[in-house]
Amino acid sequence: QSTVTSRKGSQAPTPPQSVKGIGKKVAKPDYSESKIVLAMVGLPARGKSYLSNKLMIYLKWLEYDVKVFNVGQLRRTRARQKAQQSGIKEDHSAEFFSSDNAQGNLSREQLAEDSLEMLITWLKAGGNVGIHDATNSSRSRRAKIEERVAKEPGMMLIFLESLCDDPSVIAANVALKVSSGDPDYKDVSPEKAKADFLRRIHEYEKVYETITEPHLSYLRITNVGREVTVSRINGYLSSRIAFYLMNLHLKPRSIFFSRHGESQYNVEGKIGGDSLLSPRGMEYAKALPALIRDNIGDQPLTVWTSTLRRTIQTAEDLKYTKLTWKSLDELDAGVCDGMTYEEIEEAYPDDFANRDEDKFNYRYRGGESYRDVVVRLEPVIMELERQENILIIGHQAILRCLYAYFHHLSQDDLPYIKIPLHTVIKLTPKAYGCDEERYAVPISAVDTHRAKPKAPEPVVEASTSRQYFASEEEAV
Ligand code: F6P
Ligand code: PEP
Repeated sequence: QSTVTSRKGSQAPTPPQSVKGIGKKVAKPDYSESKIVLAMVGLPARGKSYLSNKLMIYLKWLEYDVKVFNVGQLRRTRARQKAQQSGIKEDHSAEFFSSDNAQGNLSREQLAEDSLEMLITWLKAGGNVGIHDATNSSRSRRAKIEERVAKEPGMMLIFLESLCDDPSVIAANVALKVSSGDPDYKDVSPEKAKADFLRRIHEYEKVYETITEPHLSYLRITNVGREVTVSRINGYLSSRIAFYLMNLHLKPRSIFFSRHGESQYNVEGKIGGDSLLSPRGMEYAKALPALIRDNIGDQPLTVWTSTLRRTIQTAEDLKYTKLTWKSLDELDAGVCDGMTYEEIEEAYPDDFANRDEDKFNYRYRGGESYRDVVVRLEPVIMELERQENILIIGHQAILRCLYAYFHHLSQDDLPYIKIPLHTVIKLTPKAYGCDEERYAVPISAVDTHRAKPKAPEPVVEASTSRQYFASEEEAV
């Protein structure tokens, strides 16, 4: 990050002619060689879907193409179709899952196979990681999966077993299943749903075989991260998956985000730089400790800042352990560092337009794109997963990237997320997603959010306007 001397007045720098108009769009990384079948293993209520979902969000954030193939969902879809066609409603209460139920077994094996087939077809069409979300709890089921994947050159198979003997985690998962309007128990009272689900778990327990096959590549997670077994895992992406899963935990905690207090550059409308806080920014820094204390009480908390002075100054009065991360420095605006948006538009009109057109992919000359920032924030995400209460004093672009990870937002939306100054955002991770609270501190500050400009309306002669659209719907 460069420290830039202030550019006073409206004299904008002239862009070098040789590079004028060069688009600075960065291509998506090529992951086409990565093809992994990740088959879950575990009893019901052991957090398989939780792990599948977390992993999917993490890998998608890193731009891998990931899809979960949930066998339970396929079972329900098929049952619904059957009921519509023949009027016969299949019984999927606990008996269906009993190993003594020959018809049930046959039907479940078929569903697991079909789901795997869909997964393989999807991988062949360009996907990177297909997650087979089923119990896959017998050796024979795993052998079948192995046999099928072996037929596909270049495809790797990894089993991910979730073992859990922590009664509180199991109880929470059971409660989630019966209270979340789970489609298996849509028309049943919570009491009946719970009783049936417990019986289903019991049926599975009777025949459950933990992974002992020595030749398989597998990861075994016990009690969501307390213990992790890694066997025959090699290759970049699989090791990355293993490392991520090792860092997960379920302890209740909060993640706080705050931008630094208003800076001198913010007041002048300049981007980047390494300026100090404005008087209002200093007031925010003084108000922050009481807000955090009221929220967290005497629980432990660690404060992370960037290496830039405005974040360090904002954290000055926070009496907690502090850590400075270079990776948390604001998006590097390269040659535009220290300029206002108006100056950039004047000096680099093509670049400015390119950024508006595709902000996530646009890389500043000599600087970074949002995509570059996402990549450099990966170790921060990993550490955030590992840690408990954390307060990050960061920057607009940086916090947008982190926020998008926790709320699973798209690359198009990410660069426009509103992260105002003088506001604390509290995220509380839940089984699926995060709860959020925002605390706006009543100390005014400039608004640095620049909305995506609306695409200009096409200029169309009234009499010819129809021919531009193939149909009424497309015209809307
Ligand atoms: O204006 C404050 C700031 O943090 C700049 O330093 C940075 O370049 C900018 O926000 C990032 O926001 P955007 O991507 O919307 O320009
Ligand atoms: C299911 O049908 O809900 C399921 C997970 O299938 P299986 O136990 O057969 O993998």
